[in-house]
Amino acid sequence: MTNSAPVSTRRDLADAPLLVAARGGKPRHTPVWFMRQAGRSLPEYRQVREGTPMLQACLTPELVSEITMQPVRRHGVDAAILFSDIVLPLYAAGVGLDIVAGTGPVVSNPIGGPSDVEALPSLDAEQVAPVAEAVGLLVKELGSTPLIGFAGAPFTLASYLVEGGPSRNHERTKALMHSDPKTWHALLEKLADTTLEFLRVQLNAGVDAIQLFDSWAGALSLRDYREFVLPHSRRIFEGVAEISDVPRIHFGVGTGELLGAMRNAGPDVVGVDWRVPLDTAVARLGAAEPGAAKPVVQGNLDPAVLFAGWEAVEREVHRILEEGREAGGHIFNLGHGVLPTTDPEILTRVVELVHTATAQR
Ligand code: CP3
Repeated sequence: MTNSAPVSTRRDLADAPLLVAARGGKPRHTPVWFMRQAGRSLPEYRQVREGTPMLQACLTPELVSEITMQPVRRHGVDAAILFSDIVLPLYAAGVGLDIVAGTGPVVSNPIGGPSDVEALPSLDAEQVAPVAEAVGLLVKELGSTPLIGFAGAPFTLASYLVEGGPSRNHERTKALMHSDPKTWHALLEKLADTTLEFLRVQLNAGVDAIQLFDSWAGALSLRDYREFVLPHSRRIFEGVAEISDVPRIHFGVGTGELLGAMRNAGPDVVGVDWRVPLDTAVARLGAAEPGAAKPVVQGNLDPAVLFAGWEAVEREVHRILEEGREAGGHIFNLGHGVLPTTDPEILTRVVELVHTATAQR
């Protein structure tokens, strides 16, 4: 864990709208990218993935590079996001798990108590060397488009490890948290180490921004989030800042009540799902730190609206751009990932619309 060489941002990225907006500057247009922009909505993705299991694909550099490039070529988005998965570093470290199509990550031996936490392996950079190699290929190919690296936040990873798979109520996770806080914090500490190491590998290989996904944090009360989760996520944002000055984005689903606390974890940009209008989100985020610069937000078109026909999509895009003007910066995105049956042509049109509607205004 000593390879913390400073990361130099590629020179041709100085004006990249994503990076300008993330830093609170005035981009030439509002940047736009989509969570899960690489994936089953694209026929070219289904074609190259055929016959290769998800986690194996994530550890094949040429495939990662090709899949990451596909939505950049097709949609002209303002950022690539590395094709990988939040559970990849756990898998690479030796945790028994698989990603089951249509379900998500499934863990063979869920964590139940202190001895399981003790036995949880930690990640060594070598174990994700193919990811570093993929990032190396991508920064050469991407030119002036920034590459976003990412990782899962400790709470969301813990939920998969403790529940053994996707969960509606997170009851085992919450039971561990409340019945044995010592074991809980030991688990999140280990997961934060692994996440930070995974991000360090990506940063040293050249990613231009990072996003920390705490997808399921919205299941928590504000009180529980502050006590059981926030300190661990904060340590990750602080750790990233020690390695690099790239913009850091934090996102979760259903986090309307947590937005201020998530900003307090220390990111530069907070992602917002579709439930909270961006101007409301800005007010909530700003209130968390009186006197601070206006918050930068990312979001928040409901991915289901992409099925409603172009007129409805256009109306919603304009509304969101208007509400986003309240922010210190706005990165246009969906409120969660692209759904697999989405018509990719609609996504291309959204990119064009965001660009033309916001050009040099
Ligand atoms: O956004 C991107 O385009 C980059 C790729 C990306 C994937 N997973 C690829 C993937 C990213 C950023 C993720 C993060 C991720 N993975 C999250 C956080 C983001 C979010 O959606 O909230 C979570 C919770 C996971 C766990 C996970 N992995 C789930 C829930 C699933 C879907 C299972 C399914 O089949 O519906 C996966 C598998 C996965 N990760 C796929 C992709 C493209 C689908 C697998 C396939 O195509 O075979």
